[in-house]
Amino acid sequence: MAEMVSAGILATGHYAPKKILTNEDLERMVETSDEWIRTRTGIETRHIASDSEDTSDLCVHAAKAAMEKAGLTPDDIDFIMVGTASPDYVVPSTACLVQSKLGCTHAGAMDFSAGCSGYIYGVTLAAQFIRSGLYKHVLVIGAEVLSRLVNWADRSTCILFGDGAGAAIMGPVEDGYGYIASELGSDGSLGGILNIPASGIAEPVTHRAIDSGRIYIHMEGSEVFKHAVRHMEATTQAVMEKAGIGIDDVALFIAHQANYRIIHSTAKKLGVPEDKVYVNVNKYGNTSAASVGIALDEAVAEGRLKKGDYLVLTGFGAGLTWGSVVLKWC
Ligand code: UT7
Repeated sequence: MAEMVSAGILATGHYAPKKILTNEDLERMVETSDEWIRTRTGIETRHIASDSEDTSDLCVHAAKAAMEKAGLTPDDIDFIMVGTASPDYVVPSTACLVQSKLGCTHAGAMDFSAGCSGYIYGVTLAAQFIRSGLYKHVLVIGAEVLSRLVNWADRSTCILFGDGAGAAIMGPVEDGYGYIASELGSDGSLGGILNIPASGIAEPVTHRAIDSGRIYIHMEGSEVFKHAVRHMEATTQAVMEKAGIGIDDVALFIAHQANYRIIHSTAKKLGVPEDKVYVNVNKYGNTSAASVGIALDEAVAEGRLKKGDYLVLTGFGAGLTWGSVVLKWC
């Protein structure tokens, strides 16, 4: 059998829509306060897509930024994967719309649904395509326009979410660098604590579903909080063990940006010092599948990673799903 190729992230990109919604704006929409939102979540602003921007459009902006940095053209992309809970349509896939909008004429394309763990699942899958030699360049995108799926009258959810896209171009890298290990998990028995009840064929969108608000995101926040901390901690421990590294070896820790308190509690349990924890939930809110990709792109732009650094990405979300990846930056 041929030896596995090392696979890594060649370049990253992100996009956030221009419109910014502040906590003060939300104070005028629901019974809430800037103080409550900041202290309970750490969120100050979130970006909201315009009426003419769909999830595929956000993907295209993020992908173009990543392709430009990687020095690749649409023809170089072999496969496109989009992780999203807010696809443009149920059918066709958002990935196919992205393929067409970018003009990636040689690429296969598919969506996958892993909630807020989307970027972690995507990086893991793309790495296997490259390691096996099946593909050379895979475009992985986590993207959401959750602003069209939240109930703007429900203060317990509408203050949390934002729109955006995070992209990575993955490809072959120097031996021993890039993807080192991954650990993915799920528990479908708890799917009901974070879902959109009327969104598929089990409970179709009917007038009744619309009137009862079952077409919007439903979340039992404090339950989700507990599971998020528990699973992101456990899966990070497990993936570091697989990679043969300890917390002291990790240069940067990027967790799903849902809530500053979740990130902080997870990092504290793991013993990761604050200066190694990347946080931008204050600017973007919870962008679900996009969050880790946006954070990674910003961390790279800020020079937070150098060659040989160990990077840990961890995520948790609807499904329930969770996962962590260790990468050796290259
Ligand atoms: O991305 C996928 C995963 N998602 C997450 O990880 C999100 C996880 N959950 C969370 O981030 C937190 O649970 C929330 C931020 C959603 C809520 O924070 P919490 O500390 O768990 O608050 P809570 O839900 O227990 O609510 C506390 C109180 C309630 O009032 P009572 O019942 O104590 O009188 C809520 O009604 O806060 C009230 N509340 C609000 N007050 C002002 C809920 N939302 C708001 C609000 N403004 N926007």
